[in-house]
Amino acid sequence: GTSGEVIDYDFSFEGPFGTYDQNQLQRGLQVYTQVCSACHGMQYVSFRSLGWEDGPGFSEDEVRAYAEQNFEVYDEEEDDFRPATPVDNFPANDAVGAPDLSLMAKARAGFHGPYGLGINQFFKGMGGPEYIASLLTGYTGETMEQAGTVLYENTAYPGGYINMAPPLYGDDVAYANPDIEVTVEQQAKDVAAFLMWTAEPKLMARKQAGFVGVVFLTILSVLLYLTNKRIWKPIK
Ligand code: HEM
Repeated sequence: GTSGEVIDYDFSFEGPFGTYDQNQLQRGLQVYTQVCSACHGMQYVSFRSLGWEDGPGFSEDEVRAYAEQNFEVYDEEEDDFRPATPVDNFPANDAVGAPDLSLMAKARAGFHGPYGLGINQFFKGMGGPEYIASLLTGYTGETMEQAGTVLYENTAYPGGYINMAPPLYGDDVAYANPDIEVTVEQQAKDVAAFLMWTAEPKLMARKQAGFVGVVFLTILSVLLYLTNKRIWKPIK
């Protein structure tokens, strides 16, 4: 079969003026919480960050309720588990050897080549979120057993067979917005967008600063050009 095939899904945060879609980040968080977190930790992401501007945008009370209702963390002082609070990070999860998802969208490249030149990355982006979405939609249904482990055929996974059972089947979660169909692809794109935000929470601020920088340098160039003309006028 094929492997390493990444679909160039469109995301709202692409391009020089792209922004995160707050509703999509909230849906993606829901998919992570209700499906992925069973196996994958997210230990570099704080609950508090769910209330940051440009993120899922929850209020302080919503963040507190979300942390408390969904996650327990180990407290060294109490030497016991307790409900998570906004100052905690999401827990790690080593139960089945699944990699931490905090930075996964930046740890994987979806696009390569051609011929090792990386031109695809220049035009399409690195493709981390596209890779994650393609991985989640890329199961063929074929399996193979290797050394007592079941591997699942996947068209996006570089090796062709991955040791992660298909986590999404459609209608795995219930979205608050009834107009959004809970397909495998929709959930895959939502959780991929959310994981792009966890890996790059300041993306929008960076793009904005870059834009301000370009405008500033353009104006500065014009002023310097005019100044230069004026200074040399008596001599030329
Ligand atoms: C690997 C995402 C749910 C178990 C991975 C990888 C990603 C990922 C991006 C890394 C693939 C790579 O190395 O390139 C997700 C997402 C999930 C989800 C977004 C929820 C929608 C689950 C669940 C389980 C699981 C529920 C356990 C039942 C694993 C394992 C690996 C893995 C064991 C390592 C696979 C290998 O290296 O062959 N997952 N996962 N995942 N995941 Fe998940």
